[in-house]
Amino acid sequence: METPILKIIEGTKQTKIEVLRNAGYSKKAIRLLKQQLNFGSMEKPDITAKHQSDCGDMLILYLKLDKQTIKDAKYEYIGCRGLEAAASALTEMIKGKTLQEASKIGFLDVLTFLEGIPPSKYECVHLALNTLKKGTGEFL
Ligand code: FES
Repeated sequence: METPILKIIEGTKQTKIEVLRNAGYSKKAIRLLKQQLNFGSMEKPDITAKHQSDCGDMLILYLKLDKQTIKDAKYEYIGCRGLEAAASALTEMIKGKTLQEASKIGFLDVLTFLEGIPPSKYECVHLALNTLKKGTGEFL
């Protein structure tokens, strides 16, 4: 059975990328989505944080540490493209930062890094940040 989004794409002859662009995703956000940057699980992470938002979507963050510095960050998720973009951006932003520095990253920092996502997806950024906060909380 066809999903509504596929019907929209076929009806307008838009590519998936054009659909994302028209929805408000920046070129940079679309590139992160295409690359699935930092998506996947991690062998023996030092921190695993899982959080679910009110919309039902869920994010899992995996962090590898060297003392207090984040050496690697990956994510898995059940949810939307906005969450995927936010998680990809956040995991990229925190690599090389101390837990203290990473915990100071805020909503506007992630939005600036992404260079644009639909306003209806701002909540996804909060889910990503709340997951990070949950993970780093006990280490700070
Ligand atoms: Fe729920 Fe994106 S995280 S709509």
